[in-house]
Amino acid sequence: MDDVLMHAPLFSALDAEGAAAMRTSMEELRVPRGDTIFIEGEPGDRMYVILDGKIKLGQTSPDGRESLLAVLGPGEVFGELSLFDPGPRTATATAVTDSMVIGLGHESLRTWLTGRPEVAEALLQALARRLRRTNEALADLVFSDVPGRVAKQLLDLADKFGQPGSDGVLVHHDLTQEELAQLVGASRETVNKALADFTARGWIQVDQREVMLLDMERLARRAR
Ligand code: CMP
Repeated sequence: MDDVLMHAPLFSALDAEGAAAMRTSMEELRVPRGDTIFIEGEPGDRMYVILDGKIKLGQTSPDGRESLLAVLGPGEVFGELSLFDPGPRTATATAVTDSMVIGLGHESLRTWLTGRPEVAEALLQALARRLRRTNEALADLVFSDVPGRVAKQLLDLADKFGQPGSDGVLVHHDLTQEELAQLVGASRETVNKALADFTARGWIQVDQREVMLLDMERLARRAR
């Protein structure tokens, strides 16, 4: 069993035998960077777990602007909403880096959900965590300014993708500045201004598709 999967919500709830059986019933899909796995509005029939890489979930407004709901990494699940609430995909899933995902058809997942309540419980927990996060993001949109949201987003990305080093935490997020702005929910210009300000204060160091967090404490204070 892949190491990543042992900690994925879907698998960690199962015993070794159950986890191996579920793994066998899933299909591997290699997704090159930039490729789309599914598109908002399409009917959905499968759920995915990320083995390797990063997947962004985005929405497009009627006038063509894009917004990112989340960037997910190894072990995380997506594409489950259209199973629990049958309907079209609520977002477009695109690979931010070359990725490997495994997919489970909604029909076989349903069998697991009824046969093994611990799988249902693990998925509910993942959903609840996502709702918590979304509520927080919504409150931030209402109550925080853009620099506050940028600071929060950097800390969230560090939580997911950060590698602690002697100087700070290196976050190789693989996002363009445009994507980072879509994730924060602000214009690229305002987000860049916040990043430049944090850099001038010595809190962060920005590079192409990565950022080094030098002062997490100050960032956390700014994110509040
Ligand atoms: P589904 O609607 O099948 O397809 C799009 C997927 O994006 C959805 O399932 C969820 O897995 C994921 N998704 C939707 N909203 C969010 C969110 N706020 N945070 C993280 N992932 C989400």
